Amino acid sequence: MGQFQVRNGELVVGGLPLSRLAARVGQTPFYAYDRAVLRERVESLRGLLPPGVALHYALKANPMPALVQFLAGLVDGIDVASAGELKVALDAGARPSDVSFAGPGKRDQELHQAVAAGVLVHVESPRELRPLADASAALGLGARVAVRVNPDFELKGSGMKMGGGPKPFGVDAEQVPALLQEVRAMGLAFEGFHLFAGSQNLRAESICEAQRQSYAMALRLADHAPAAVRSLNLGGGFGVPYFPGEQHLDLQPIADNLAELTARASVDLPQARLVLELGRFLVAPAGIYVCRVVDRKQSRGQVFLVTDGGMHHHLAASGNFGQVVRRNYPVAIGNRMDAAARETVTVTGPLCTPLDVLAERMPLSQAAQGDLVVVFQSGAYGASASPSAFLGHPACMEVLV
Ligand SMILES: Cc1ncc(COP(=O)(O)O)c(C=O)c1O
Repeated sequence: MGQFQVRNGELVVGGLPLSRLAARVGQTPFYAYDRAVLRERVESLRGLLPPGVALHYALKANPMPALVQFLAGLVDGIDVASAGELKVALDAGARPSDVSFAGPGKRDQELHQAVAAGVLVHVESPRELRPLADASAALGLGARVAVRVNPDFELKGSGMKMGGGPKPFGVDAEQVPALLQEVRAMGLAFEGFHLFAGSQNLRAESICEAQRQSYAMALRLADHAPAAVRSLNLGGGFGVPYFPGEQHLDLQPIADNLAELTARASVDLPQARLVLELGRFLVAPAGIYVCRVVDRKQSRGQVFLVTDGGMHHHLAASGNFGQVVRRNYPVAIGNRMDAAARETVTVTGPLCTPLDVLAERMPLSQAAQGDLVVVFQSGAYGASASPSAFLGHPACMEVLV
């Protein structure tokens, strides 16, 4: 993978050859996230985006505290999806004014905490308004709200659709005018709209189309709003290539489209700031998952590398995190990057389930017991999105390097 160098046959991450990094960490399996790659992701994207667009990090992609703290210094804001994530964002030093809280089923207690913190709450249901107003009265603080709209269109070509049709996320566009009346009647501090059409999209044109449609919808709804739109969060959906044949997202058309929308907004919604919220795009390429070969065995002509890591730490690479068809993440033998001898192997974990596969019939450098298997593109939806307690194996470590 191009974001990491190879030196003397070893992958170099955070400036260290992999075997030395493993010795430094003191155990396998572990995730390592590379600061230089994180910085490069943010800075290269910023270099393309029009200056008025705010770049937020969706913390759900990777909530490791040190990583969030590092990113908080690079982006304009953090999006959280629970009171637990809110704590991580605030601990990391994010300014409450730049934190937003979205997600279905927010509990009253969480809404109370959000008002006390002074963050922007993305309202996803009429039910959330009363506890927000109560918290506002109890705390003597205006509850800052934006309305998350479930649009009447879908993000074409996205891996996970989260808007359009019947959805538990957001308020259906046609119900928003009535909700805005309630926001006004309850005296909540309205700040804008949030639309999140979907995730993991590698087609720039469909992202641009969703942004244009989101903008047009927000403009229509702004007529019903109790106050000027100050925040227009257009979501994200920027994908990263995981599987053979997938290409990097072409950012230039998206940047051009956002420049056009920013120019229009300066006339239509002069107080509004456009916001992008990106998770995996910022962090996935910066992370690797590393595990060690515990056993190398043959079964009826096939070679299996059985490692000390697997689906309990990296559910997504095992193909069990929303994928319809299992495909291999990019995998390598990280301490034998230049090996001439290659063979087709299946890499598994130690769990007694056929689901525990990290690479299936993949050509890799010939490996032996003790070698280090690396799964690339692993900085998002890794440790925090995996069933680590399943079958009682040790937890993995996470390091920022
Ligand atoms: C509201 C919201 N924002 C941001 C994200 C982050 O998506 P991604 O990591 O694909 O950028 C998600 C993902 O589910 C989401 O639901």
